[in-house]
Amino acid sequence: MSEPRSAEELEAILKDPGFCRYSTGHTAVVDWDAETGWSEPRVEPWSDLVMDPATLGLHYGQAVFEGLKAFRSADGSVHLFRPEDHGRRLARSAARLAMAEMPATLFSRACAALVAADQRWVPGGYGQSLYLRPLLIATEPDLGLRPSKSYRCVILAYPADPCFGAGFRPLSVTTSTETVRAVRGGTGESKCAGNYAAGLLTRTEAQAAGYDEVLWLDGLERSRIEELSTMNVFLVWRDGARARVTTPPCDGTIVRGLTRDSLLTLAEDRGLAVAQEHTTIDAVRTGLRSGELAEVFACGTAGVVVPVSRLGTGGEDMTVGDGGEGPMTALLRNSLLDVQHGRTPDTHGWLRTITWADENGGRGA
Ligand code: COI
Repeated sequence: MSEPRSAEELEAILKDPGFCRYSTGHTAVVDWDAETGWSEPRVEPWSDLVMDPATLGLHYGQAVFEGLKAFRSADGSVHLFRPEDHGRRLARSAARLAMAEMPATLFSRACAALVAADQRWVPGGYGQSLYLRPLLIATEPDLGLRPSKSYRCVILAYPADPCFGAGFRPLSVTTSTETVRAVRGGTGESKCAGNYAAGLLTRTEAQAAGYDEVLWLDGLERSRIEELSTMNVFLVWRDGARARVTTPPCDGTIVRGLTRDSLLTLAEDRGLAVAQEHTTIDAVRTGLRSGELAEVFACGTAGVVVPVSRLGTGGEDMTVGDGGEGPMTALLRNSLLDVQHGRTPDTHGWLRTITWADENGGRGA
């Protein structure tokens, strides 16, 4: 945990926060049990979670999480980005794992209460944010295989640069023919802890081979591209003089990324041709060879929008475009960050401004 910091220490941290290196030292906590339902959010000093070693969440994996951000605008105001949408996604993840579903408004209030308490921890640099990590975990001790009758949602907060670095350096990715991340009907769409654990071995092997990330293929035929371990993926195709932006559809095996959704909306706002469609890894290879596939980028809350410059697949290492960042990648990232930092109007109602009332859990003074 972090101790209370002096103004000078905090200023130094906010200049170079890294990703989740320093916590604010507070958490927001909301509890649920079958008898009393959801508690009101409480902002508390950071403390260990004390759990019985027989806790259901530890043995049978009832644990889901979110990642969302608060941004500072030039006038000093602080805004959460799409907190209710993140709350709805957490509830959907929870439902898939037979866990209690927190109302999105309660989730948003809990996040806002924490951000209000930790406002001085929100950095102001373009692309920087206060990253919130809400975890919902089963807390009842029992080794019988059944849904828990109690849960805790604990929300952590960290000043953060984008998780792959402030400079959005291009990533290298590789595919796997040995392992898969998800199959239809499984938990692939859910942000459950186990999905991330299931990808770790392959991701670690990829990193040992010099790649940053795994580009997962579909679980059945291992031919269609799906997503990275930490982010969704987009392709930018040359279509005559126009660009066409595509991304795999959300049909049960990929995370319903809110950055993904925001980019699709912003691209449509700009009149770009966009499509949610499947693409095979063979079509990706062919497109890279011909130059028709001009850009590949990854996106997610933690990473924002990052170019992919190298793809290792089928024994071949291919360079995307000229190996740097393409113009569409930069355009879409800046369109998103401009909304998040209040530089352009929030025409979709994505920002929740933090007010004095949030310091009381959104219930007024
Ligand atoms: C996020 O982007 O917020 C995520 O939850 C991905 C995480 C593995 C860094």
